[in-house]
Amino acid sequence: MKKRVLSGMRPTGPLHIGHLVGALKNWVRLQEEYDCYFMIADWHALMSEYEDPKLTRKYAMEMMLDWLSCGIDLKKSTLFTQSEIPAHLELAMTFSLFVPLGWLERNPTYKEQLREMKGRNLTTYAFLGYPVLQAADIALYKANVVPVGADQLPHLELTREILRRFNNLYGKKIFPEPEALLTETPKLLGLDNRKMSKSYNNYIAICENPDEIRKKVQTMITDTKRIKLKDKGHPKACNVFSYYKVFAPGEKVKEVKQWCKNAQKGCTECKKEMAEILIEYLKPFREKRKWLEGEKQERVVAPYMESLFKARKETDATIKEVKDALSLFHISAEKNI
Ligand code: TRP
Ligand code: SF4
Repeated sequence: MKKRVLSGMRPTGPLHIGHLVGALKNWVRLQEEYDCYFMIADWHALMSEYEDPKLTRKYAMEMMLDWLSCGIDLKKSTLFTQSEIPAHLELAMTFSLFVPLGWLERNPTYKEQLREMKGRNLTTYAFLGYPVLQAADIALYKANVVPVGADQLPHLELTREILRRFNNLYGKKIFPEPEALLTETPKLLGLDNRKMSKSYNNYIAICENPDEIRKKVQTMITDTKRIKLKDKGHPKACNVFSYYKVFAPGEKVKEVKQWCKNAQKGCTECKKEMAEILIEYLKPFREKRKWLEGEKQERVVAPYMESLFKARKETDATIKEVKDALSLFHISAEKNI
């Protein structure tokens, strides 16, 4: 039996090359080894974007296309949207019966997000419960392995505590305790050297068109000590150079190091080449996306529906166990009580 993986992303903006090299490439690999469930966490997105829900819907649809373009495969993995499966909320409610407020208020990710996302009122009931819903996402599918970034580790630790508490309280070993899977992935900074993020508008989207990529790469900050063409550069201090390491590893990196350190090429030229490399790198994804959009019903919608129904079925079984454990009625939609 393959171990089960569950992970999710919040559709709060277009997917960018940071998501691609940070998470998606990893997910694509995991599909070969694990029974993977990938979720579009739209309820989680709405916890911060509730004032403009139409945008979340748009980004969720884009996300599905981006995932499939990058190699997430509906034949290998189960894909679904959180809000399409009511059991997520049902299980979150169940957990909320016994999760102490202190666990949530102490959560470092929660405190950090409150600080980061100024401009929005996040002191809501739902947002405090963010990790409770996340625990439900993971538990519903009895996932063993959760690939996440380091920022999500506190959430995963909370999930483990919640599931342990459930198992203890109700005397049943219904939920396995999931392990985090932290994979070393290259960290890509945004065009302005800050963290790549939609809110800073410093990203290159996976589906960005070539001209846009050329323009954006030209705005990248380089070695700030290299002002004139004749100045020797310091590749290690340059974000463009770190892009070379990710998108053109090997010989090309050595070449760039040479021309930079010896002031043989200027930054404009260097960035021009980077842009072309990126365009080439993203080309298969752009083409796959076009192909998917060509026969969307047959290539995306129909297989997605099948996948969603499979996920729903899985959650029905878990919810039945949970309701039994809590002495709640569970009248099957099918027939006998
Ligand atoms: N909180 C995760 C993030 O912001 C998204 C997420 C929601 C998730 N539910 C999940 C990740 C379950 C892993 C497992 O990236
Ligand atoms: Fe960066 Fe290239 Fe300029 Fe060197 S030449 S500082 S690597 S952009």
